[in-house]
Amino acid sequence: MATAAVLAATLALFLRAAAATAATAAAEADRIGRLPGQPPVNFSMYSGYVTVDAAAGRALFYWFIEAAGVPAESAPLVLWLNGGPGCSSVGYGASEELGAFRINADGRTLYLNPYPWNKVANMLFLDSPAGVGYSYSNSTSDLYTAGDNKTAHDSYNFLVNWLERFPQYKHRDFYITGESYAGHYVPQLSQLVYRNNKGIEKPILNFKGFMVRTQIFMNLYLLLMFCLLISVEMIGWKCGN
Ligand SMILES: *[C@@H]1O[C@H](CO)[C@@H](O)[C@H](O)[C@H]1NC(C)=O
Ligand SMILES: *[C@@H]1O[C@H](CO)[C@@H](O)[C@H](O)[C@H]1NC(C)=O
Ligand SMILES: *[C@@H]1O[C@H](CO)[C@@H](O)[C@H](O)[C@H]1NC(C)=O
Repeated sequence: MATAAVLAATLALFLRAAAATAATAAAEADRIGRLPGQPPVNFSMYSGYVTVDAAAGRALFYWFIEAAGVPAESAPLVLWLNGGPGCSSVGYGASEELGAFRINADGRTLYLNPYPWNKVANMLFLDSPAGVGYSYSNSTSDLYTAGDNKTAHDSYNFLVNWLERFPQYKHRDFYITGESYAGHYVPQLSQLVYRNNKGIEKPILNFKGFMVRTQIFMNLYLLLMFCLLISVEMIGWKCGN
């Protein structure tokens, strides 16, 4: 009996160690050594593909920038989504807005962004949905059946699978943020995470909240511009919707 218990415990330990090593190896394969023209930094970055639908061959691309200035081991995990639909979070959010770097005018080198969000959080930038940025699908039909609901489910699958690669972020305080059309993506993904977490005592996606920027004001502004630019009859048609 005792021997069997010890054997079982040893096996469990071994399996856990093997799982941890495998996860780390998958993450290590995604580690970014140094980007072209990048200044030296003291935080880690990773990027790569996470399959969200194996049958369709659909995979989403991410760029993960760990926290600096605050300990990455305790700082929250924050997902950032650009909108569009069709805007790359890697191309816009990460490279022009809140990422660690900005691109110099020479188009070849980078400088440190003075206001990067990774000063307070571990920042996960996701190209979403498939077809945007580096994210892709091997099924052409996917590009014609995109929509907010599918985008939310793909992003959810991405997060769950990504956490298998980065298990140290399971149960970490988690926030979903974004701007523009992500004013649709963010609440819909938040709702999905919230619903799937219901009744689970310690969910791996430890969802704490979401934040969006500009969607309503953008819409009002665009609608106003549109209404100013078209005829009175057209206003009745468009603004009546
Ligand atoms: C898509 O197809 C390519 C070429 O066959 C393959 O290498 C890749 O793994 C596929 N992607 C996914 C997500 O299955
Ligand atoms: C990393 O660099 C940032 C910005 O230069 C600095 O605030 C932070 O203290 C550094 N962290 C460590 C662990 O050296
Ligand atoms: C949303 O998408 C999921 C996954 O693709 C699907 O199972 C579900 O039926 C969809 N829901 C609606 C309301 O379309």
